[in-house]
This record gives sequence, structure tokens and C-alpha cells, in this order.
Amino acid sequence: MPKVTFITPDGEKTTIDNADGTLMEVATDYGITGIDAICGGVCSCATCHVRVTDEWKEKVGPQNDTEKDILDLEDGADDNSRLSCQIELTDELDGLVVEVVEL
Ligand code: FES
Repeated sequence: MPKVTFITPDGEKTTIDNADGTLMEVATDYGITGIDAICGGVCSCATCHVRVTDEWKEKVGPQNDTEKDILDLEDGADDNSRLSCQIELTDELDGLVVEVVEL
């Protein structure tokens, strides 16, 4: 299972080994600041917004259509933005680094 690192807006880094499930589930299980996940992962709230670092963008993949619609309404969203509930963690994402976007 992959290792993932979250960087919160205050610059704090938290690395979690053996992450399982979606990126949002891992973040909420470990109390990552800024990932509130109010909708529970059904892609309707954007309170799980993260920015994927450039080196991981291709491996993580693009926003899906629903995700894109939600992110289009968010100030501060850009091409590196993803909703972490839509990122299923796989071994291919071992070492993933994301920045939590301040709401
Ligand atoms: S948890 Fe609501 S959009 Fe991801």
C-alpha cells in the first residue's frame, strides 16, 4: 500500500504509510487539517480539495466530469486541483505528495 504526504496550508507535512482507500478517507482518518469531507465522498462539496504536485499530476490523472463541475465553482482551483475523495490509492501512487487547499 502506498505512502502519501499531505502539506497543509501552514506548511506542515504529514506522511502516512500503508494508506488505503481514497485519499480523502486517509486524510480524515488521520485528521489532516483542511480536509473536512462534508459530503462524505460523493463529490458534491469540494471540502476535500487538494492540489497535486506537478511531478504527480500525470500519474494521478485528470479530474472526472463531476469533479470538474464542482472545482469550476471553487476560487483557487487550477489544473492541479483534485477532489481527494475521487483519488483511489493504488501502489502506483506510492510517494504521492499533495497540498491541502485552504477553504
Ligand atoms: S468529500 Fe465532498 S467532494 Fe470530496
